[in-house]
Amino acid sequence: MIAHNSDSMKLTVKVWRQPATDKPGHLATYEIANISPDMSFLEMLDVLNEQLILKGEEPIAFDHDCREGICGTCGIMINGQPHGPDNNTTTCQLHMRRFKNGDTLILEPWRANAFPVIKDLVVDRAAFDRIIASGGYVSINTGNAPDGNAIPVPGTMQEKAMENAACIGCGACVASCKNASAMLFTSAKVAHLSHLPQGAAERNERVLKMVARMDAEGFGNCTNTGECAASCPAGIPLASIARLNREYIRALLASDQS
Ligand code: SF4
Ligand code: FES
Repeated sequence: MIAHNSDSMKLTVKVWRQPATDKPGHLATYEIANISPDMSFLEMLDVLNEQLILKGEEPIAFDHDCREGICGTCGIMINGQPHGPDNNTTTCQLHMRRFKNGDTLILEPWRANAFPVIKDLVVDRAAFDRIIASGGYVSINTGNAPDGNAIPVPGTMQEKAMENAACIGCGACVASCKNASAMLFTSAKVAHLSHLPQGAAERNERVLKMVARMDAEGFGNCTNTGECAASCPAGIPLASIARLNREYIRALLASDQS
């Protein structure tokens, strides 16, 4: 039970309810009181679900795991913005103090044909896994872990690789893009490995396969609106898409010459 205090908020929450992929959905309206500004956004949903369960209603399905901004599962459109109004912040890291007493919040699932709704706010992001499986890895011999310093990596390259490795695969880039493009996600994975010597052996093959998979999954093409980078909680820069395009052209030229 949440204790009432003078700072607690009352909110109207409109939530997309959809029982299954092949069933129609609608926005359902809920009033919720006694929300502390110190709660996280997902804790607010926990309180709402507690109320629904006590009333004998179906709780709202939403994805979450780490609740620390690491796993990338907690994507929700909040008032039309992926992960809500704060930059570089996942839904689980968002606090209710970001909203005002009396606010109306509209919660929807990621919108993209390639991310079908499973239930309520939960979408199927397996298309991302299939893009990774098509080439987002390095093939290595199994055995003992190699010496960390065995292959020197220049500092600037290491920084670029780490910057792109920060992608948590949340899908906000796709959800924010009017074309539902997955280019920021794919570019982060390609750029990460293309900056490391360990990724060199499969560099050309990787980008060709990942772009082909991305297109086959039904994601749209990038038209440089930049919404993806603006909504990315991991701060993946738009420049990574330019890197992806360069890697792709480079690989195409190399395959033509072979
Ligand atoms: S690029 Fe950013 S928005 Fe897109 S999946 Fe990765 S972390 Fe999420
Ligand atoms: S629950 Fe893991 S990033 Fe939000």
